[in-house]
Amino acid sequence: MELPPHLRQAVDAILEGTPLADIQRAADLLSRRYRSETRDGRLHVGDDLAAKAYLATRLPATYAAIRQCLDDLAARHETFTPARLLDVGAGPGTAMWAARDQWPALHDATMVEASAAMRQAGEALAQNAWSSISWRTMSVEDGLPGIEPADLVTLCYVLDELSPAARDTLTDRLWHLTADTLLIVEPGTPAGWQRILAARSRLVALGAHVAAPCPHQVSCPVAPPDWCHFSRRVARSRLHRMAKGGEVPWEDEKFAYLAVSRRSAGADYARVLAQPKAASGMVRLKLCRSDGSLEERLVTRREGSVFKAARKADWGDAL
Ligand SMILES: C[S@@+](CC[C@H](N)C(=O)[O-])C[C@H]1O[C@@H](n2cnc3c(N)ncnc32)[C@H](O)[C@@H]1O
Repeated sequence: MELPPHLRQAVDAILEGTPLADIQRAADLLSRRYRSETRDGRLHVGDDLAAKAYLATRLPATYAAIRQCLDDLAARHETFTPARLLDVGAGPGTAMWAARDQWPALHDATMVEASAAMRQAGEALAQNAWSSISWRTMSVEDGLPGIEPADLVTLCYVLDELSPAARDTLTDRLWHLTADTLLIVEPGTPAGWQRILAARSRLVALGAHVAAPCPHQVSCPVAPPDWCHFSRRVARSRLHRMAKGGEVPWEDEKFAYLAVSRRSAGADYARVLAQPKAASGMVRLKLCRSDGSLEERLVTRREGSVFKAARKADWGDAL
């Protein structure tokens, strides 16, 4: 997946003129802080250079993951067409761009972001594309006073930057602000999945219906050391490669996510939880089923149409 051309151009315009060595240094620091999940009271993206490093090295990957989640969500709730978005920990507006790509009729967005540098980058990206965006520079830890409910509420790659107590309070508050659907995305690490599980328990207890990726409401059948996560291949631009010091023109973004809704869509499908393994005349699938169980399913050619579907299946698909 690649950024849509108009977003790619807006990113390039912001990065133009900044020395590559500066972006590389800032990207390296950012990556170390994300990997170690540093929580030292400072925002990871605290200045203009860190925001540029985010645009160059993280935005394409978080956009791709969020875009995939919205695709899955739309497939489950075909009639869902949000008009208003609330994006919390919005960064440069990643979820807004992804949501607008999925639902072009989306027209209002409220973006909550603590970092002034991120907010400025987000405003610059959207300046010629969107008019009805309201940016709010505030910390989610202040309880989101004055924020109105929205059809779609998104919290993407933010929980890992908050304390456990702040995560729980925020999860409850966001459900309160959700008119229809709440999407939470985290890095696809065991720790990211645990944060998703904690949010899932709270939200189900509050009456939320799980829309994706789980085809059921009961406890997650996946047990450590395994964890539920998905992957999206992301094209790397030349600058992206140079900033990260990588050779290959792509990277695989691993993510974990949860979409919950105020409506139940029913769930008569199984979710593919790993890359299918194909051999001659057979495909092995790891499935999360609608009764809440895990199944390692060997599908053989003798199963006809099921085999055809299994051969086309990809990690993350609903079958
Ligand atoms: C990893 S970035 C994700 C940005 C965007 N959601 C995306 O997926 O690309 C996390 C964002 O959350 C913001 N953030 C962290 N703690 C916050 C807080 N307490 N209140 C508001 N925003 C916060 C950070 O400044 C940063 O922009």
